[in-house]
Amino acid sequence: MRCSLLLAASAATSVLAFPWMTPEGLDALMKHPSAQEEVKRKLAEYEAGKADNIEARQVGTGLVPGVVSLLGGTPTAVYDNVLGLIPTGDSVKGLKKFPEAEYPFKAPGPTDQRGPCPGLNTLANHGYIPRNGIATIGQINAGTARLFNMGADLSSLLATGGALDGGDILSQKMSIGGPDNRVGVLNGALNSVFGTPTGIAGHGKFNEGDASATRLDFYLNNGDNIVFVPELFKQMHQQALAKGNGTYSVDAIQEHFKNRYRDSRAANSQFYFNLPSAGVVMGAYYFIPGFFSNGTIGAGGVANEASITSFYGAKPKDTSANAWQNPDLEYTHVPERIPEQGWYRRATPMTIPEAVAGILDVYLYAKPAIGGAGADQNWVVGPVDIPNNPQALSCFLYNALYANFPGDLFNSLSLLSSIVSTLSSTIVPGYKALGCKVDFPQATGKGSTYRSVYESWAKTYTGEAKTKAVGSGWYQK
Ligand code: HEM
Ligand SMILES: *[C@@H]1O[C@H](CO)[C@@H](O)[C@H](O)[C@H]1NC(C)=O
Ligand SMILES: *[C@@H]1O[C@H](CO)[C@@H](O)[C@H](O)[C@H]1NC(C)=O
Repeated sequence: MRCSLLLAASAATSVLAFPWMTPEGLDALMKHPSAQEEVKRKLAEYEAGKADNIEARQVGTGLVPGVVSLLGGTPTAVYDNVLGLIPTGDSVKGLKKFPEAEYPFKAPGPTDQRGPCPGLNTLANHGYIPRNGIATIGQINAGTARLFNMGADLSSLLATGGALDGGDILSQKMSIGGPDNRVGVLNGALNSVFGTPTGIAGHGKFNEGDASATRLDFYLNNGDNIVFVPELFKQMHQQALAKGNGTYSVDAIQEHFKNRYRDSRAANSQFYFNLPSAGVVMGAYYFIPGFFSNGTIGAGGVANEASITSFYGAKPKDTSANAWQNPDLEYTHVPERIPEQGWYRRATPMTIPEAVAGILDVYLYAKPAIGGAGADQNWVVGPVDIPNNPQALSCFLYNALYANFPGDLFNSLSLLSSIVSTLSSTIVPGYKALGCKVDFPQATGKGSTYRSVYESWAKTYTGEAKTKAVGSGWYQK
């Protein structure tokens, strides 16, 4: 029944499967009249200095107008998307002290979703995104900007990946934890194509991956890649003592990642560490000092024990004054929260280039092989040619996100083209602003020819591992 609905829909439309994949399609998207009108209006305000909500911030790439996404967005998020890399005043007012009285901490209730991301869990526990843990891309953009000063380009990339991987792409909603029947792809009609929405914890596609800092691998923990594992936090704490003089510095988290990769790969016969999820995993390591520092990283802010234990919900069993200096200190878990004694958000937004530079720091230190375990424990490689400068790697990661669509969709997906276009509008502004070369394949129709063109293009960005590693969400026997 579901299949015939899809076939009927695709027979009725002769539009491209992925119009945004052609340079023409991408430009058409950028030139949409109503989007352009909104962009021009905002830019005029901005240039006249009238925009009370915006402050100038020079980025090397200059001002590049984007496309407004009106679906599921909030005014703040739309604003950010319009201006691409130019953050709103809300996100650049310098250091700002938290918690705020209007956003009190409340522990989650039994039906509230929480997941593998301490950043999103904290946002939900304070009501910066819905407390039930079901949020839209726009709500995530607005919340991450407000509390953590995450740039709109970066939050859009991550949250769009989350919506595509484990959410409802029509309403742009996702669970920040596991599967939830309040979220469904076209109310379930497309679940046979995309699978039941997994939430952002969905393993091995866009976001969630192995060798995480404090969560066990999906296949090592009966599918639970969400629960905080005290033993792993303890190992990270030991590196903070050994490498960070008691802080969760870049040096400390690099060492922790190196160990985590080694241990996971040795223990997990379905180990999967491929782009883009491997990029998200390594990026998340950088987020620990990058976002949780009290003040701005690189400008005096450090991620100390008080910040990290609060945002992670890591409760020491021994709370006496100097107990944190003990490498054998044990922890339990409580809900994530903003440090009660006060904490300063970073003063400048973290945009994609900074996050990708962070990924490179982590990657080049540990030099993990990118790919996954195949059947019979052979190693299946991921992309072979990974750029090692932040700008080129940023562009590569955007492509890796596109390249992770299932090729199958070329047979039946005309119906979805408009939805996917809408979604890509949330990340295209950042992509363009970085000056990425647009080399999506000329997929000017549907069917096997276009599918094979797409698949050979996609292989550059995902390697063989996407379909041939047993731990991949796209594994084909
Ligand atoms: C913008 C939307 C975001 C999405 C969709 C997202 C999603 C995720 C996902 C899927 C993971 C699991 C990755 C893995 O397998 O290791 C993760 C982990 C993590 N995220 Fe986020 N995240 C977002 C924003 C943030 C923010 C703003 C912060 C910090 C303030 C943050 C900090 C972290 C950290 C530290 C981890 C590692 C957790 C651990 O294993 O210890 N994230 N995130
Ligand atoms: C290490 O941390 C202590 C406080 O915990 C501080 O007094 C000392 O100056 C730090 N050392 C270095 C080298 O940063
Ligand atoms: C953050 O820094 C401020 C100012 O130095 C200090 O009052 C506060 O206790 C610190 N917060 C944490 C969590 O360390």
